[in-house]
Amino acid sequence: MMSESPTSSKRLLAVCGKGGVGKTTFTAMMTRILIEGGKAGKLLLIDADPAMGLLNALGVDVRRTMGQVREEIIKTARRGGKEEKIQLVDMLDYMALEALSEMEDFALLAMGRTETLGCYCPVNELLRGTIETLSESFDTILIDGEAGLEQINRQVMRRVDTLIIVSDATSRGIQTAGLIKRMVQSDRVIQCEKMGLVINKVQGNEELLEQFAREMGLEVFGYIPQDENIAYHDLVGKPITELPAKSPSLVALRDIAKNLILR
Ligand SMILES: Nc1ncnc2c1ncn2[C@@H]1O[C@H](COP(=O)(O)OP(=O)(O)OP(=O)(O)O)[C@@H](O)[C@H]1O
Ligand SMILES: [Mg+2]
Repeated sequence: MMSESPTSSKRLLAVCGKGGVGKTTFTAMMTRILIEGGKAGKLLLIDADPAMGLLNALGVDVRRTMGQVREEIIKTARRGGKEEKIQLVDMLDYMALEALSEMEDFALLAMGRTETLGCYCPVNELLRGTIETLSESFDTILIDGEAGLEQINRQVMRRVDTLIIVSDATSRGIQTAGLIKRMVQSDRVIQCEKMGLVINKVQGNEELLEQFAREMGLEVFGYIPQDENIAYHDLVGKPITELPAKSPSLVALRDIAKNLILR
C-alpha cells in the first residue's frame, strides 16, 4: 500500500490552459485544499505568469521576482570580467533564494517579467537549474502557468508529474486543450507522466463536455462549477484562498484533488 506521509510522495503539478479559463483561480483553490488537507508536506508555489495574478489570488506579495534576479545577473555579466562571471555562477543559488518568499503555509516563487530583450538562453538555463535544485527540498510543487507552456519550459522546469489543463466549458475551449495535449505529446514543451483536463465554470451538460474531451483524447479529472463566490471575491479583491469553505467550486475541487490529482 502507498504510504500517505508527505515526504514519500513528492508531487510536481503544473497548471496550464488558454487565457482566462481559471488557471490562477484553480491554483489558489488547490493551495487552500493542499494546506487544509495537511498532506502536502513542504509546499512550493511557482507563479510562472509574468502578470503575477497568483499573488492577488493568494493575498500575498513578494519582495523580489526571478525576473529581477535575472536582470541583475545579465547586468553583472555584461559589466564584469571573467573573474566576476565565475563568481556570479557561484552566487546563483543564493540569488535565487532571495526571490523565494516564505509564507506561513507555503513558499512562493514569482517569475515576474523579464525586461531585457534578446535571447539569454544560458542565463535561463542556469536559473532553471537553480529552480530545479530548489524544488528538491519541497514535497509538493504547484506551478501556475501562463497561457502557453513555453515560459514553464524555458524558465521553470522541463518535467512535471501531473499536467493539469484547465478549460472553460465550451467545445472551442476543449479543442484548445486538445491542442495543448498534442503539443505536449510531440515533446516540444514539457514532459509529464500524467495529463488531464479540468473543466471550469461548468453550468451543467457534463456528459456533453466529457464527450468533447473524449474526442480530443483527454481524460477529465473533474468539473468545477461556475461559482458566484469566486466572482464576488474577484469583484471586491478578496483572496481566492479565503472563499467560504462550502463554496461549490471548492467542494468540487476537493473531490478532484482527492480522487485524481493526489492519489
Ligand atoms: N469557477 C468559476 N466561477 C466563476 N468565475 C470564475 C471561475 N473560475 C474563474 N472565474 C473567473 O474567471 C476569470 C479568469 O480567472 P483566472 O484569472 O483564474 O484565469 P487564468 O486562466 O489564470 O487567466 P490568465 O490567462 O489571464 O492568467 C476571473 O475573473 C475569475 O473570477
Ligand atoms: Mg492566471
